[in-house]
Amino acid sequence: MRALVAYASKYGSVEEVARFVAERLEGRGIDCDVADAAEAVVKEHDLVVLGAGLYMGKMHKQGRRFLKRNWAALSHVPYAVFAMGPLSAEEEELEKVRPQLERGLRGAPEPVEAVVFGGVIDQERLHFPFNQMPAGDHRDWEAIEAFADRVARLVRVPA
Ligand SMILES: Cc1cc2nc3c(=O)[nH]c(=O)nc-3n(C[C@H](O)[C@H](O)[C@H](O)COP(=O)(O)O)c2cc1C
Repeated sequence: MRALVAYASKYGSVEEVARFVAERLEGRGIDCDVADAAEAVVKEHDLVVLGAGLYMGKMHKQGRRFLKRNWAALSHVPYAVFAMGPLSAEEEELEKVRPQLERGLRGAPEPVEAVVFGGVIDQERLHFPFNQMPAGDHRDWEAIEAFADRVARLVRVPA
C-alpha cells in the first residue's frame, strides 16, 4: 500500500500536519510519499491526502492546481483533503470557513472526506501587515490523529 500526502503550505504549518499524517499512516503499514503539492503527481498510489492552507478566502493555489492536474487519477483513488486556517479549533469557527474549502474543491472529483482544522499564526514567519495577526497554534492534534486513522482505514493493509 502506498499513499501520496501532498501539502500546499506557505508558512510551514500545513506541511507539518501533512508529515504528521504521513507518519501516522506509516505506523499503519502504509508507505507514504510526502510532497509539495506544486510538484506532487498521483501515480501508483492507493490513497491520496491533500493538505492545503486557506488564505484570503481561498484554498492555496497549488492545492487547487494539484486537484486539476491530477483530476483523472483522483477519480480512481480514494482521497481525503484537510484545509487549515481558522484561528480557533472551535467547531463553529471551523464550519464558518467550510465554504472556502468547498470552493477550492469545486470541479474536483468528490473526496471521501474533507475537513477543516485550526491554523497557525507565527508572527516571526510573517511580514507586515500579516505579522499583526494574533499569534497562536490552533491545531487540534487529537482531531488530526483521528482524521489520519480514518484515512488509513480507506485502504486495506495486508496482514
Ligand atoms: C495572509 C493570510 C491570510 C489568511 N487567510 C485565511 C483565510 O481566508 N481563511 C482561513 O481560514 N485562514 C486564513 N489564514 C490562516 C492560515 O490559513 C493559517 O495560518 C494556516 O495555518 C497557514 O498554513 P501554512 O503555515 O502551511 O501556510 C490566513 C493567514 C495569512 C497569513
